[in-house]
Amino acid sequence: MKVLLVGSGGREHALAWKLARSPQLEELHAAPGNPGIAQLGTCHPIHSEDGESLIELARNLPADLVIVGPEAPLVAGVADELRMAGSAVFGPSAAAARIEGSKAFAKEVMRDAGVPAAETMSVARTPCVVKADGLAAGKGVFMCRTQEELDAALLAVRALGETWVIEELLEGDEVSVFAICDGAGGLALAAARDYKRIGDGDEGPNTGGMGAYSPVADVSPAELDELLETVHLPVLAQLAQRGSPFTGLLYAGLMLTADGPRVLEFNCRFGDPETQAILPRVEGDLLGALLAAARGDLSQTELAVSDQAAVTVVVAAEHYPESSDSGTPIEGIEAAEAGGAVVFHAGTAERDGRLVTNGGRILNVTATADTLEEARARAYAACDLISFGGARYRRDIAESAVNVVS
Ligand code: AMP
Ligand code: GLY
Repeated sequence: MKVLLVGSGGREHALAWKLARSPQLEELHAAPGNPGIAQLGTCHPIHSEDGESLIELARNLPADLVIVGPEAPLVAGVADELRMAGSAVFGPSAAAARIEGSKAFAKEVMRDAGVPAAETMSVARTPCVVKADGLAAGKGVFMCRTQEELDAALLAVRALGETWVIEELLEGDEVSVFAICDGAGGLALAAARDYKRIGDGDEGPNTGGMGAYSPVADVSPAELDELLETVHLPVLAQLAQRGSPFTGLLYAGLMLTADGPRVLEFNCRFGDPETQAILPRVEGDLLGALLAAARGDLSQTELAVSDQAAVTVVVAAEHYPESSDSGTPIEGIEAAEAGGAVVFHAGTAERDGRLVTNGGRILNVTATADTLEEARARAYAACDLISFGGARYRRDIAESAVNVVS
């Protein structure tokens, strides 16, 4: 089978790495891909939002399955264009991707589906959370505990030129639960926990994600099933009823509050970096599952997950998230991998035969082991072998979880 993977980050490298293990895979192609993905398949210099060129590539290969990784092309309707041109696509239509593309739409769907979610507030009053309606790459959410913070948040969302929603500020631990969806049914993947802030102890500004681990002891297998039943499936039914069935990866970002789980957000694609900690635990054939979903029938598909634990540490550029870095040589990946870790490329490039930095989040180092403690130790031992000027990473990924038996 020939697969075309759209995207260029660590999430896409992890997808490529897992797909490459499928007995069904004959050829892997990526657009645009990255130097890590290039070791597993052929990269084509096509931007992930260039629908026309992607259609042409999918047709010429021809690709049996197209997997769209990032949210921007999905919200822009690239999956629709590819489907109209006859490709089997794993990734929702623009109409279904609004579940991520518009916070107001997501709230409406959650309300109609009866999904437990953070309550919307009609009047801005502290404590609350102000969220810009559209895609804002993590920069559109403001936690307001004081009136000053609320005033600043309202100014900031206005400056983004967006409408906004205001909701109650919830307390609790967060968890990400992904389901592979075929429009009506879904297959839950193992839960993962993401670390959104740049600094240890959750200090500093929000980022795309600085690390992740899986499994999450707070979510038992029975609770995972329950979340699929009470969160993902009602949303799938609601989207189908609205004439926009969701085919792709439905990501629920949840807060585990004292009153039970509450949805904070939905995303219409695999999470980054959670995917890098989840996929190494998947034992079954991911390609088979994504193809079954794209064809609209997951009913005969199962995806076994190992008991192993996985920890992913994001190695970022010196000034991330304020700015990215490019052209700084990277050393030590081979040594890190020789010790058993997997190093996913997130923001790298090849220049004059050398691997260099090219982004904010540069590498994602994942290690698996029988326990989270061991996986964590291995991941950090691997990070210590990697070097580039200004490399930074959080030291506390999975730290508070290691004493919990996985
Ligand atoms: P979102 O893009 O909606 O997931 O928001 C990004 C991050 O903001 C979440 O991962 C949470 O850490 C935080 N957040 C969002 N909504 C709430 C809420 N209602 N209460 C507390 N924290 C929230
Ligand atoms: N890890 C957060 C996200 O993918 O949105």
